[in-house]
Amino acid sequence: MKLDVLLGLQWGDEGKGKIVDVLAPKYNVISRFQGGPNAGHTLEFSKIKHVLHTIPSGVFREETVNIIGNGVVIDPVIFKQEIEDLEELNVDLTRNLYISKRAHLILPSHRILDAASEKAKGKTKIGSTLKGIGPTYMDKTGRNGLRVGDVINPEFKEKYDFLTNKHKDLIKLYDFDYNLEEYEENWFKGIEIIKKFKLIESEHEINKYLNEEKLILAEGAQGTLLDIDFGSYPFVTSSNTICAGACTGLGVAPNKIGNVIGIFKAYCTRVGSGPFPTELENEEGETLRKQGHEFGATTGRPRRCGWLDLPALKYSVMLNGVTELMVTKADVLSGFDTIKVCTHYKLNGKEIDYLPFEINEPLEPVLKEFKGWKEDISKIDSFGNLPQEFKDYLLYIEEEVKVPIKLVSVGPNRDQTIFR
Ligand code: GDP
Ligand code: IMO
Ligand code: MG
Repeated sequence: MKLDVLLGLQWGDEGKGKIVDVLAPKYNVISRFQGGPNAGHTLEFSKIKHVLHTIPSGVFREETVNIIGNGVVIDPVIFKQEIEDLEELNVDLTRNLYISKRAHLILPSHRILDAASEKAKGKTKIGSTLKGIGPTYMDKTGRNGLRVGDVINPEFKEKYDFLTNKHKDLIKLYDFDYNLEEYEENWFKGIEIIKKFKLIESEHEINKYLNEEKLILAEGAQGTLLDIDFGSYPFVTSSNTICAGACTGLGVAPNKIGNVIGIFKAYCTRVGSGPFPTELENEEGETLRKQGHEFGATTGRPRRCGWLDLPALKYSVMLNGVTELMVTKADVLSGFDTIKVCTHYKLNGKEIDYLPFEINEPLEPVLKEFKGWKEDISKIDSFGNLPQEFKDYLLYIEEEVKVPIKLVSVGPNRDQTIFR
């Protein structure tokens, strides 16, 4: 059996959480493979609206096993909070949530380093979620990190102190006031919560499941354009968000990857700094933000909004080997007289049809216009009943990107989903 991968094709917040929750009943296992609590994945059903940060989006499906893979970074404080919030909804995960022993821990001092580094950058800041993601992955590649499997080591506290003291020396390089104590206390409480879960060697477990013909969906966080190698560097996150990240973040060989499901919004958003060629800093952008409730699920920051960017989408499809597309937030486009799509960019006066290395230089989008539609589509339940103007828009995207659109999401709720 092969493992399917679901990931975001833009700058994150494409609606991955919603779609994983919708698809979860088809799978035995849902597994996160990278990122950490910088992610905020929103699920809505039966009047419940819930945001997950570290925990995979299969948790509301009783039969599903959820695995936090080795590529993920975990903050025990946030993890503990997530567990408590789920307990309030009567979701007990001690039975069906497993955590890789190889996943790295975000220390309280990683958060401080993240904040100090951002402050020192001033105007050139990344716009990080300040969850300590960058410093934690730096310690992972620098071979200094602490891992989940270390928590049962009798010398865990010494290892913690050693790394924290090193961080304290580093923080002295910045002019930054901080207080670790309160967070630290909660952090160790979180470690005790982590110990209650089944800590596994997820690479063995996942490959065993595949050999048993079990169906696994790997859930990506962030989006392709935030990938550490291929995103709009340096305005990116610190992990490989692309499909290859599922191989390294779970211990699955490339020839074990099956379907690659690419999620994209019917327009674009970005939160944090960095280039965004189709950004609308006008009334249209404001309308998208308002109609789409575009505020970050993790930080509450307003998301920047713009038209769909085809060269960027094609780039993402190429990098991930996307086999099927799913489009979200289609309902948000209702009411616009015209809808625009970027087909090319102008870079230094020259027209190009690909996302270049020079993405940080001003790229002027060349836009193609489509006729909009007025009707509310949020209650439509079949592809055939969608407005012709919207179908034309989707058919154009499909033709350009050359990958079929298999699902259209017309609202945040589980039920507002059209399979094609
Ligand atoms: P993720 O990080 O990719 O899981 O996405 P987020 O949860 O951060 O952001 C997506 C937001 O859009 C959430 O508030 C979802 O509830 C909401 N959402 C998802 N799909 C749709 C949709 O089709 N229409 C509308 N209006 N909202 C949606
Ligand atoms: P989900 O999984 C949107 C952005 C931050 C910042 C940059 C680096 O919900 O789609 P980091 O905290 O990783 O150092 O931030 O990446 N970012 C996201 N934007 N959705 C996310 O996750 C994001 N995770 C990080 O805003 O610009
Ligand atoms: Mg999100």
